[in-house]
Order: sequence, then C-alpha cells, then structure tokens
Amino acid sequence: MSTNYNDLKTKIIDLKDRCLADIQSAVSLESLEEIRVLYLGRKGKIADFMTLLKDLSLEEKRVMGPLLNDLKVTIETFFFEHKHHLEAETFKQKEACYQDFDVTAYTPGLLKGSLHPLTLATEEIQNIFRSMGYKVATGPEVETDFFNFEALNIPKNHPARDMQDTFWTSIPDTVLRTHTSPVQIREMRKGKLPLALIVPGRVYRQEATDASHDYMFHQVEGLYINKKTSMAELIGTVKNFLKAFFKQEDLQVRLRPSYFPFVEPGIEIDMSCPFCKTGCSTCKQSTWIEIMGAGLVHPNVLRHGNIDPEIYSGFAFGFGLTRLVLLKYKIPDIRLIHGNHKEFLKQF
Ligand code: DAH
Repeated sequence: MSTNYNDLKTKIIDLKDRCLADIQSAVSLESLEEIRVLYLGRKGKIADFMTLLKDLSLEEKRVMGPLLNDLKVTIETFFFEHKHHLEAETFKQKEACYQDFDVTAYTPGLLKGSLHPLTLATEEIQNIFRSMGYKVATGPEVETDFFNFEALNIPKNHPARDMQDTFWTSIPDTVLRTHTSPVQIREMRKGKLPLALIVPGRVYRQEATDASHDYMFHQVEGLYINKKTSMAELIGTVKNFLKAFFKQEDLQVRLRPSYFPFVEPGIEIDMSCPFCKTGCSTCKQSTWIEIMGAGLVHPNVLRHGNIDPEIYSGFAFGFGLTRLVLLKYKIPDIRLIHGNHKEFLKQF
C-alpha cells in the first residue's frame, strides 16, 4: 500500500468527522445549504477526493472507491436528517407566532383610527351641497396659467395676480393652482348646462407659515349656472349652507362690496359669529366673521367656458375649507392640520 493511500484514508475519516460536526452545528437552513455546497457540491471536498482516486492502483481503488461512496452516503443521510429537523423547527417557530395572535382578544384602551377633521368637514360640506342638487367636481393641482388666471379674467400684468403669490413650476406657464376657481372653466367647457357644482381641493400660495397661514391649504369653490340666476339665489344658497354646517338656524349673513376679476359684481360674505352674541376672541369682538368671496360670474369668464353670456348667467363663491375647519373645531393653529400629531388627531 502506498503512503498516498494511507494518507488518503486518514483524510477521509477526518473529513467525515469534520463534515458531520459542521452539519450538526448548522442552525439555519441557509447555513446548512452552504455546508452542503462545501462538501457535497460539484466542486466540493468529496468531489476533490474522487479525482484523487485516479492516481491509485487498481487494488487500492477497490478499497477506496466504496469507502468514499460510503462517506458520501453517510454525509448525505445526515444532511437530510438535519435539514428535516431544521425545517420542523422553523415551522414550529412560525406556528408559535400565530398561536400567540388572538384576533378575538379584547384590548381595552386600544386606539381606533378616526377621520381627519378635513375629511369630516369635506364630507359634511359635500352632503349639504348634494342635498341642494350640487355635484362634486375636481381638477388638477398643477394648473396652466390659462386656467388659473387668464380664463378667469386675470390677464398677464393684471394687478389682481399680486393677490396670490404664486408657485411657478419649471414648466413654462404652469403653476400650482392658487385657488380652486380654475375648475369653473374646466367644468363649463364640458358643455353640460345648467351647472351646479362645488370643488373641494388643495391650493398653494407662496407665503410664510404662521398660526393662520400655510403654503398649502384647502378651498371649496362653488359654481351655479343657469338661464336666470340672481344675487338672491347666491345669498340664499350660501346662507343655507352655513346654517347647516354650523348647525345654527338663526345664523345671519351680511355682504360687503368687493372685487374679484372673475365676478361682477363681487362681494364678500360675513356670517354672524356662531360662538357668541356679544363678541368673543374668535370674531375678534365684532360678532361677525369674514367667510368667503363671491359674485355673479363675469361675462368674460363665461365666454372662456364656451357659454353665451347673453343666454346664461351664474354665481360663484369660494371659501377656505381649512379656515372653516379651524373655526368649527376651534383649532388654534393651522399647522396642526398637517402636523400628523396623534394626540391632536385622536380627538376627532
Ligand atoms: N378664488 C378666490 C380666492 O382664492 C375666492 C373666490 C372669490 C372665489 C370670489 C369665487 C368668487 O368664486 O366669486 O381668494
């Protein structure tokens, strides 16, 4: 027998011990797989031994061949046993997790999700207007100069553009809409008349943030177009809405003349303070609260909406939904609205 042969024999026994110990120590299926590749793989240690066989004599091969085969079978058997063991362990662990999870368990004090005050108010406003026959429309927040300004009778260089500090985008003539009024034009152009709609949605203004200003807030636009419309209908509609929203039957409104390029005449509407009769901090001791801009739709605006101002007329109004929410729920700071504070949100 050659020394090579004896040497090989010891190495095989040695390899077997090491391999079995390695398999035994594997605690995960991943590490077990690494061990399998190392020993049993196509380029593994056992394959290396197989190639050494060819240098042995025929007689030696007769002894070593079966020895190596035995080794391979022993290792494979042990490998699969350990693999089944690990699989069973993993399954047991997973099962244990599910067993601890009792879907019927009663947990007192568990926080339930609630709707955001803006969502609550939007739904309420939509319901009130739907009960008056209005539908809800939406439009894009990234808007063109044309719809945001031009079509609303605010041409370039018109001083009214200063009223709205605009976020211009890097795309020419494209803005983050500064109000929900552009949806008026988009809806008029759909060509279905008469129109009665409200548009709740986000608007953007480039201004410093403080307790009552934010660079993004929510507005609601209203539009009614028919063959005969009047200021009286506008006032009646707005008053009915405010009464329902603040749940106050004796709520009053008053009008002040104002200017918005897209209406003529334009007015501002104030409502009697829903929280006091003699003056409080909300109405700044005046008993009145400014609530919205409104007016009869300007003929130029109707024309941009492909509507003949000789046949149709309309009224429009726009108010800050965020502001209404602050008022209704007596929220002292607009920044709470988008702050995502759990303590704040769970009150609703
Ligand atoms: N778009 C105006 C704003 O953002 C609000 C407004 C005023 C809308 C008068 C109207 C309106 O429809 O008639 O300040």
